[in-house]
Amino acid sequence: MTVRVLTGITTTGTPHLGNYVGAIRPAIAASRRSDVESFLFLADYHALVKCDDPDRVEESRLALAATWLAAGLDPERVTFYRQSDIPEIPELNWLLTCVTPKGMMNRAHAYKAATDANAGGEPDDGINMGLFCYPVLMSADILMFNAHQVPVGKDQVQHIEMARDIAQRFNHLFGQGHALFTLPEAVTDAEMQLLPGLDGRKMSKSYDNTIPLFEGGAKGLAAAIARVVTDSRPPGEPKDPEGAHLVTLFDAFATAGERAAFRAELRAGLAWGEAKKRLHDVIEREIAPMRAKYETFMARPELIEEQLLIGAKKARAIAAPFLQALREAVGLRRFRALAAAPAAGPKAAAAAPLAAFKQYREADGQFYFKLVGAGDALLLQSAAFAQGRDAGVWVAKLKKEGAAALAGAPVTLAADEAAVRAALDRFLEVE
Ligand code: TRP
Repeated sequence: MTVRVLTGITTTGTPHLGNYVGAIRPAIAASRRSDVESFLFLADYHALVKCDDPDRVEESRLALAATWLAAGLDPERVTFYRQSDIPEIPELNWLLTCVTPKGMMNRAHAYKAATDANAGGEPDDGINMGLFCYPVLMSADILMFNAHQVPVGKDQVQHIEMARDIAQRFNHLFGQGHALFTLPEAVTDAEMQLLPGLDGRKMSKSYDNTIPLFEGGAKGLAAAIARVVTDSRPPGEPKDPEGAHLVTLFDAFATAGERAAFRAELRAGLAWGEAKKRLHDVIEREIAPMRAKYETFMARPELIEEQLLIGAKKARAIAAPFLQALREAVGLRRFRALAAAPAAGPKAAAAAPLAAFKQYREADGQFYFKLVGAGDALLLQSAAFAQGRDAGVWVAKLKKEGAAALAGAPVTLAADEAAVRAALDRFLEVE
């Protein structure tokens, strides 16, 4: 089975080398794996929580989109979209808000830090409801697509735990015995914490120690590198490469051979000025071609717009039917359906059309079955059976037990897991 990996980037500011090494590069590498299905989005609703300057919001989302595309994100492989292009997300946000205990939000680190900063005064001064409910919107981002894994920095782990709690609660209240939402897991990469900034602390906008990724061009990069803090050993004197954050920066862009050679040269007395040139060269080798693409994209925003609209369409093809099922689960149903099935009660009224099992034999002489939904869309495909009878036994079991029989069944899912589970569980209602 493929793993669904989802992550969002808040669109405030422009990316620096720390963002590239910690988030952008690994996410793009993961998206190229055949066992990974990637969802990457610009968290522009989240940006509004912190920023009320429309021009800055606009600039930042454009720059971030251009950065991801320039860094090699392939919009064909990845579902790449803007959060604000998916109206299902704020709607799900509301469904989740209504099952989220307020006390849980009181405990969120970001909110607590904001109230602590008001110590002595009115605790909620300057805090908007967007900040308070931030973890719910983030849960909606994640649960909308039933992500398995969410790569994030350490500061976001609590939010993923909250998403799990909220999902569990929703499943319990409305799932009628099966999971509507997949419980997401946070994935924190050691690299993500480690890239040091100019002063050796973690590279971060809030420390004002960043090296810009594309902004300022090759010159800007060189100027920033010139400001990397080193010890004051003069040229010719041996340097200790371990513990020098200039070396950590170098490592992030160098091959194993280059890392060893760089250390040897420093031990032999390489001047820091020279070392900075080498650092500049390895970084430039990797990002100069990307910078050229970045500039092309920034000059043609309509190309970015086109990619993002394609991404939004892909994302909504999943989000819209799933949200429909969730609306029905909480009781927001069409009255029409009630009239159509008066005897079966409200449970059947929630129902989508029944999917169908098809059993058949292939040219290879083996027996198979599949489950097809509306418009003959394939939902689930069985493995091969030597005996037609055995295929029949599994079909009967899946009909009788619904999604609960999926575990251990010799089948592969051909559609979103939640959709397949919902289709299977429909058989229970008709029994
Ligand atoms: N809050 C995240 C950050 O600031 C961004 C974000 C929003 C996110 N929604 C998400 C990350 C969903 C992962 C999944 O870094």
